[in-house]
Amino acid sequence: MLIFRRMKDVKSVIPKQAGGQHMSLFRRLFPVGTRSLLFGVHQFLWHPWTVYRAWRYLYGKPTWREIVCIFLHDLGYFGKPNMDGKEGGRHPEVGAKIADRLFGDEYRQLVLYHSRHYAKMQGELPSKLCWADKLSIMFDPKWFYLLRARFTGEIKEYRFYGKSSVAMSKSDSEWFDWITHHFVESARMESTQIKKV
Ligand SMILES: [Fe+2]
Repeated sequence: MLIFRRMKDVKSVIPKQAGGQHMSLFRRLFPVGTRSLLFGVHQFLWHPWTVYRAWRYLYGKPTWREIVCIFLHDLGYFGKPNMDGKEGGRHPEVGAKIADRLFGDEYRQLVLYHSRHYAKMQGELPSKLCWADKLSIMFDPKWFYLLRARFTGEIKEYRFYGKSSVAMSKSDSEWFDWITHHFVESARMESTQIKKV
């Protein structure tokens, strides 16, 4: 019964991003992953810029190959019907394939394991890019992050899956403060535990 109740909860909160039956033409043409890349949290120019700044903060200046990887690591969100679901969770694969073609296996792994969740699924440690990606929130002004996340609707999914940490009754601003603290702390504590390739 609990699982049915949970499924009902998910449908009522994120029906459109997850591919519900009443999906509008706009949402079908621009699923949440595409919206996120075009003008959302993972905006294809702004988000990599914040990751670049976080990389410099953590490790110093990246090489030009690393910069290219920073700019392509989230391209796999394109066309994804969700951000953290089954499809969205596999978003590192696209960028990893491009990095492999361009620069070889070392960079494939850098991009592929930028997702902590994906790395864990494969029994691997996260790559350097994972912690720069997490810490990037420090370089993203709250008002701008929330504006993008609300505009694309992706915040509903993030809030839903994060509700065990931050109750849905809390404001988006409080939720942002919590994830910033959580991401920054994890990046500071765990950025030394990275996959060496
Ligand atoms: Fe990212």
